Amino acid sequence: MENEIKALLKEKNAILLAHNYQPPEIQDLADMCGDSLELSRKAAATNADIIVFCGVHFMAETASILSPDKLVLLPRSDAGCPMADMITADALEKKLVELSPPGKTVPVITYVNSPAVVKALSTICCTSANAVKVAKSLQENEILMVPDRNLARYTASQTDKKIHLWDGYCPYHDLLRANDVKQAKQAHPDAVFMAHPECRIEVLKLADIVTSTSGMLTYAARSDQKSFIVGTEVGLLYPLKKANPEKDFYPASLGMECKDMKKITMEDIKKSLRNLEGQVKVPEDIRKPALKAVSRMVEL
Ligand code: 13P
Ligand code: SF4
Repeated sequence: MENEIKALLKEKNAILLAHNYQPPEIQDLADMCGDSLELSRKAAATNADIIVFCGVHFMAETASILSPDKLVLLPRSDAGCPMADMITADALEKKLVELSPPGKTVPVITYVNSPAVVKALSTICCTSANAVKVAKSLQENEILMVPDRNLARYTASQTDKKIHLWDGYCPYHDLLRANDVKQAKQAHPDAVFMAHPECRIEVLKLADIVTSTSGMLTYAARSDQKSFIVGTEVGLLYPLKKANPEKDFYPASLGMECKDMKKITMEDIKKSLRNLEGQVKVPEDIRKPALKAVSRMVEL
């Protein structure tokens, strides 16, 4: 199967990208692994004609926003993100009317885990790695941050800005509680606790470092510490251990397994590439304003 996929990738001048949460066999086969924005930016810089995105729908959309001339394939069209589905363009427009009476404009920071139509209505995008920096870069002191309430609460705790929340969340990160972390710390008293900012604020308060998936990979590689409790989706344990075989990594909770991130199989990749199935294309009238919000973040 691996060889067949490799041959198809070569024949079609395609590149295979995998998010850090994808199953091990897919990460091993991929040309590049990383977080969503990192992957899209790397893909835009290659001369491949086709991008096969092993992740979820919003990631394939971001690749399409940044690479309009490439064909973007998501091998399973039902691989979505429950948090991205917690916001729509209509609901955001209503909220903006509520927050911005005539003469007042509240800027919108939109997490990349969101639909392209929502990005198109936004002032600027952010990722889990740069949310605080993005918020600080805005002149306004009152901001709406969507769709992740936990990322917004964390950002608010790191800035002096008044941040309006959207009631969205990642069901897997949100289920981790302070008690789970305390238990994990009792079991591994010498371990460093790394937490993703999609976790609840009660969890983030217990963290030694709050960062994105790629931030955790960098931190663990550079750290002198030997053991780590990992407060994010369990798929990250594989690349962490692969890059640091001499170190120990413990999941903060085994319940943090994203069903959508595990949908794509090797068979799906082969089928998608062979038949060019699962194409994701953001229409130009949405892509242009969405690109503006993504580019503003990238420039920052
Ligand atoms: P990052 O890899 O950007 O930290 O994102 C985490 C996530 O939940 C992606 O779906
Ligand atoms: Fe969405 Fe959470 Fe799954 Fe990431 S881990 S794709 S935020 S549901």
